[in-house]
Amino acid sequence: MTPKIALFASGSGSNVENIVRYFAEKRTAEFPLILSNKQDAFVHERAKKLGIPSVTFSRDEFADGCEIVSLLKKYEVDFVVLAGFLLKISMPILEAYPDRIINIHPALLPKFGGKGMYGHHVHQAVVDAGETQSGITIHYVNEQYDEGNVIFQATCEVANDDTPDTVAEKVHALEYLHFPKIIEDVIGKQLK
Ligand code: GRF
Repeated sequence: MTPKIALFASGSGSNVENIVRYFAEKRTAEFPLILSNKQDAFVHERAKKLGIPSVTFSRDEFADGCEIVSLLKKYEVDFVVLAGFLLKISMPILEAYPDRIINIHPALLPKFGGKGMYGHHVHQAVVDAGETQSGITIHYVNEQYDEGNVIFQATCEVANDDTPDTVAEKVHALEYLHFPKIIEDVIGKQLK
């Protein structure tokens, strides 16, 4: 049976699109549903284009989690992938999907993680700290922000003349290259 993955995103959703397109060729996973906490997030436009239903839940509904778990179960979701999703995952969702929720963080955790460290703030902090490298961390999700077990990291150089925007570009390139493959690996191992 082909595993089903729900994608959570709060923003543009370029990772969502990249993941869906990667698996469209491979057919080793299906994407029945995209969830967001933002009604006006561009990920909904991408979902339409990809032919995948997308739904919006409020911050309170994500914090409660029960309605979301019911929906995930209704769609027979096996794994949850957070691709630029900004809210904390609540206990009911964590309990329904132990070791089956994966997040990507746009820096080399444990550095530049935790509350407030998202999107542009991360890349700004990396540049401000004078780091010579940044990268991506793909990890399991637990009840603490950005603290679940690390699955994979990849690095990129941060040069003297890099800005938060150019670091973001380098990090996005790493995300597009690695995230779908790592998802595929995790699913493959867990379903063996
Ligand atoms: C990515 O850099 C992701 O790592 C971070 O937010 C960004 C989302 O970009 N958490 P997009 O919405 O996939 O374009």
